[in-house]
Amino acid sequence: MPYAHITGWGVAIPENILTNAEIAQMVDTNDEWIRSRTGIEERRIAATDESTASLAAQAAFDALEVANLSPADVDLIIVSTSSPEHIFPATAALVQDQIGATKAGAFDLSAACTGFIYALNMGAQAVRSGSIKNALIIGAETLSRLTNWEDRNTCILFGDGAGAFVLQASEKPGGVLSAVMRADGSGGDLLSVPAGGSKLPTSEQTLHEKLHFIQMNGREVFRFATRVMAQATREVVKMSGFELDEIDWVIPHQANRRIIEKAASNLKLPLEKFIINVERFGNTSTASIPMATAEALGKAQIKPGDKIVFVGFGAGLTWGALSVEWTGPLAEPEAPLVWPYRFEKLYSIYARFRSAALRVIRTIEGFVWGRKG
Ligand code: UT7
Repeated sequence: MPYAHITGWGVAIPENILTNAEIAQMVDTNDEWIRSRTGIEERRIAATDESTASLAAQAAFDALEVANLSPADVDLIIVSTSSPEHIFPATAALVQDQIGATKAGAFDLSAACTGFIYALNMGAQAVRSGSIKNALIIGAETLSRLTNWEDRNTCILFGDGAGAFVLQASEKPGGVLSAVMRADGSGGDLLSVPAGGSKLPTSEQTLHEKLHFIQMNGREVFRFATRVMAQATREVVKMSGFELDEIDWVIPHQANRRIIEKAASNLKLPLEKFIINVERFGNTSTASIPMATAEALGKAQIKPGDKIVFVGFGAGLTWGALSVEWTGPLAEPEAPLVWPYRFEKLYSIYARFRSAALRVIRTIEGFVWGRKG
C-alpha cells in the first residue's frame, strides 16, 4: 500500500492589509481590545479582481512547482472552502481549468475551518488506496465577502487567503499517518451564513436582515474550540502510535491566539511547539493551516522527518486532527523544473488558450448539433 506524502506547498496572500485601527473606524472597537481578545493585528482582504478560485489556483500552482509536478499529472483536486465562487459549479473545477490540470477530477469540500484537515485526509486515503497518485489539496477563502462590516463580533476576525499542499504516492514510509474527523450538527446555528442556500433562498427580506453574512455566537464557539482542540490532538497522536512529547510541531487552525494558548496548556505542551501567525492574517478559516505551514517552512522551522499534528475546529460544528511525518519534495533536488515552471508566462497563456479553445469547440459543436436536430 503506498504512503501519501506532502511534497509541495504554496500560498496566495492578497496584498491589501486591513489593520485593527482601520476596523475601529468602521465599528465600535479598538486595537487594544482586538489584540488582547484575539491576538489579531491585521488581516488581508482580497482585491476586486481576486476570488476564491484565483487565490486557490495561485497557491496550487506554487505548491506544484515546489513538488516539481506538472498540472497535467494531477489526478484529483479538492478545494476546501466556505466562500466558494458559486453554490455550483465547484470552485475546484474552476481551479482545474485555470491551472490546466487536464486529467484531474475536482470537487469542493465544505467543513468550514476544519475543512483542510478533512480534505487532506480524503486526499491521503485516495492516494493510499492506490486509486490515484497525485492530489492537490487546497484551502481557500474570501470570507471578507461574507462578512458584515457593521458587526463587530465577526468583522474583526476574518481574513482572505489560500494555501495548498501536493500529496504524492510513494512506497517510502511516512507522510499522512492518522486522522480524526468529527462533527456535531446540533451546534450548526452557532456559526453560520443562514441565507443564500436552499433553506432560505435569497429574498428582499433575507437581504434586509443581513442573513447572507456570517453570524456567530463567539463565546460558545470559543468554549467548544478549547474543549475539542486538545481532545482531537490527543486522539490523533495515540492513533499514530506516538507519544505527545514526540510531536515536533502542532499547527492549529488560526482563529484566536487565546484558543491556541488554552489548547497548549490543556495538552501541557510548550507554546513554542505551536505555529502561530494569526496576528498577521486573522482567521482565514480553512486556509489557515496550510498558510501557517508554508510560512513555517519558509523560516526553515519544519524539517523532513518532523512529526506534526494539524488540528482545527469550526462551523458545523466540525473538528479534527491529522498527524504527519513531514517529507518535502520527492523530486530530486537537482532535477530540472518541468516546463510549466520554467516558462510560467507561456504556460499561463497556454492554460488560458486551452480553456478558451474548449469553449469555442463547445460552441461549434452546439451549432452543428443544433443544425442536425
Ligand atoms: O474559525 C472559527 C471561528 N470562530 C471563532 O474561533 C470564534 C471563537 N470566539 C472568539 O474568538 C471570541 O469569543 C471573540 C473574539 C469572538 C470574542 O471574545 P470574548 O472574550 O469571547 O468576548 P465576548 O463575546 O464574551 O464579549 C465580551 C464583551 C461584550 O460586552 P459586554 O456584554 O461584556 O458588555 C461584547 O459586546 O466585549 C464586547 N465586544 C467587543 N468590544 C469591543 C464584542 N466584540 C467586541 C469588539 N470590540 N470587536
